[in-house]
Amino acid sequence: MCVQIIGDSKAKLAAIGNLIGEKLPVAASELLGKARVRGRETHAVVVAADLRDVNNISALKDLSENLSHVSKRVFLIDQKSRLAIVQAYALGATSVLTNPVTPQKLLRELLTPGMNVGDQPAASATDPGQAAAAGAACIASMFSAIVNGQPINLGEARNVGRDITNSIAERGLAEWLATVREHHEGTFQHCLLVTGVAVDFGLSLGLKAPDVDRLSAAAMFHDIGKAKIPLAVLDKPGRLDADERVVIEMHPVIGYEVLESQRGVSREILDAVRHHHEYLDGSGYPDKLGAADIGDLVRMLTISDIFAALIEYRSYKPTMARETAYEILSDMSSKGKLEVPLVKAFREVALTR
Ligand SMILES: [Fe+2]
Ligand SMILES: [Fe+2]
Repeated sequence: MCVQIIGDSKAKLAAIGNLIGEKLPVAASELLGKARVRGRETHAVVVAADLRDVNNISALKDLSENLSHVSKRVFLIDQKSRLAIVQAYALGATSVLTNPVTPQKLLRELLTPGMNVGDQPAASATDPGQAAAAGAACIASMFSAIVNGQPINLGEARNVGRDITNSIAERGLAEWLATVREHHEGTFQHCLLVTGVAVDFGLSLGLKAPDVDRLSAAAMFHDIGKAKIPLAVLDKPGRLDADERVVIEMHPVIGYEVLESQRGVSREILDAVRHHHEYLDGSGYPDKLGAADIGDLVRMLTISDIFAALIEYRSYKPTMARETAYEILSDMSSKGKLEVPLVKAFREVALTR
């Protein structure tokens, strides 16, 4: 495996060179603007550039077609801003890392599971790494469309949902969870985990393909309202205070209103986006619905959402074991918040798949 480094300054090229050290052969290390992508010789490209600079963006756009032939495209950004992450995915990143990054983290990213030194990268339609990268790019572009008041590409979301379903049907949920937790962060990680868990829940119940598609679409869109929630609240390490809770709890209604203004979003998806935080005992939000008003799709999405949130990878705390997360769900079902038979059926997804 060979790596190419592209940076917008000599200092960044040197810093990445130091991070990679002797661990991987570097085919070329070049300044953006003068770089050409060596698609056939490299299996991974590391790009370190300020994505607020229009010259960098246009240079990367010029490279993007050739860049798409390289299977691993890691973008290193300086500050964790949603705009920079969205921009990186829009310019072709398959994963985005925020500085400061450790050599271990960068190398892990470049040497994905099954892609060892000397190996060819895996290239399959059901490869979880590729489906997750396409999913993150799709969610990033939906977030950016919402912030900029532009139409959302619903067809792309459906296609990505189908790729995720195929990946999970063939390679299993465990591989999906491991891939997403290792390579994606924050809201993108969460949405991809929820989609994978919901799809696997549907598959485990033997739902027909159109029903699994509806479930995956609902999961892809469910937290779309978070596009308008400040990152300081969204990605805050630790507990939120009361004011921050009020802000975050606005996301189902924001998501509903954004999607309602788009053409082609079904009532059922709108319902799932607005009501995925409702509980059967009426203690959820935003509409305090009771059991009679919460449909099957929403019930399945809510269980998948809670489970995925519990088992997320966060840099500031250890990842919760699937067994512990399932105990929490069982407890919630025994308190009347979640449907008991559905949580029982979810046991197989949570623990054995
Ligand atoms: Fe949510
Ligand atoms: Fe969520």
